[in-house]
Amino acid sequence: MDRAGDAGKLKGRMAKLSIKDLPLAGKRVFLRVDFNVPLAPGGQQITSDKRIRASLPTIQYALDQGAGVVLASHLGRPKGKPHAEMSLAPIARRLSELLGQDVKMAPDCVGQAVEAMLPGPKEVLLLENLRFQPEEEANDPAFSKHLASLCDLYVNDAFGTAHRAHASTVGMIQFVPQAAAGLLMEQELRYLTMVTRNPERPCVAILGGAKVSDKIEVIQNLARTVDKLLIGGAMAYTFLKSQGHAVGRSLVEEDKIPLAKELLLEFGVKIVLPIDHVVAAEFKAGAEHQTVENIPSDKMALDIGPRTVELFAAEIAKAKTVIWNGPMGVFEMPPFDRGTVGVAKAVAASGAVSVVGGGDSEKAVKSAGVADKISHISTGGGASLDFLSGVALPGVVALTSK
Ligand code: 3PG
Repeated sequence: MDRAGDAGKLKGRMAKLSIKDLPLAGKRVFLRVDFNVPLAPGGQQITSDKRIRASLPTIQYALDQGAGVVLASHLGRPKGKPHAEMSLAPIARRLSELLGQDVKMAPDCVGQAVEAMLPGPKEVLLLENLRFQPEEEANDPAFSKHLASLCDLYVNDAFGTAHRAHASTVGMIQFVPQAAAGLLMEQELRYLTMVTRNPERPCVAILGGAKVSDKIEVIQNLARTVDKLLIGGAMAYTFLKSQGHAVGRSLVEEDKIPLAKELLLEFGVKIVLPIDHVVAAEFKAGAEHQTVENIPSDKMALDIGPRTVELFAAEIAKAKTVIWNGPMGVFEMPPFDRGTVGVAKAVAASGAVSVVGGGDSEKAVKSAGVADKISHISTGGGASLDFLSGVALPGVVALTSK
């Protein structure tokens, strides 16, 4: 993911303390990670351990420095109560395998039983799901203090949760002497900062997904800095309708049409919209479909068409920097995945520094088989969207400045 050739392009220094600035030897470090991983029904089987692997370098670094590591994460949305199927126990087992050493599993995240299990140098303890306690999401000061009392130093590697101002991401920092970014957090911030604030040009952003309303701030923020903004996915039809195009039964947010008009007025020269579409009468995998330039009134667009893929690919080929968030069509439902796969291949072939937002866009580059050609695939969905919107992430703001 972090391709060696990109290293020189990652300009700028982190304004926050890094784990590398901390005197870890013989200290106990509280390491907030994002182990909010997908689990099969029943909560025992991890279906993707990507987020666990992503924090391994930070965990290993702390252990190599001689620290005792207290790992803490949320998992799912248990709403302040214990739920067996949202326990972090399967993650402790997987992490033990990945680290090649025992990871002890705590029965809770605070309390006497946890205190009795605190790790010595080079040992790892994983706390139970922080969100089993309502105080975590409430950012409760007493709970924050309690968490802070478990350690000497604090490190946040949970980029995926940096947009949440909770006790473990913000509240407890006032009770620790030093709070630093972990290696994953640093990598995420470096890439996202580079592509949004200091991109090599031309810089092209590709935005997709269903709703304009989810991405208004991202469009407004990115349109100011990028050279071209390619819009696909269902949200393109709100824009096309605002220009007076027939969109048939395609998904449109009627109440966002005036906003789409305004955005086109302000940033029209940069925005590129689909020029052909794959349409069907039904929203279903394998539905009978055709490629059209004008959408018939009884059909809905479910993917961008091949001429649009070519148009987008031509812009992407010129780019030195590419930012991508959101699929171009209903990519989980073949054959409506072709536009997304075509764009993924174009990004991979461009040789540009490429940053892909979490969630669906990640699945898209994986299903196109080009994930290893992407410079950086973010581990954060909501957090990377907030970052691309220009919003300061509370979990980053709270860290100790250099
Ligand atoms: C995520 O998966 O986006 C993060 O872990 C945050 O989870 P949340 O949306 O439940 O706060």
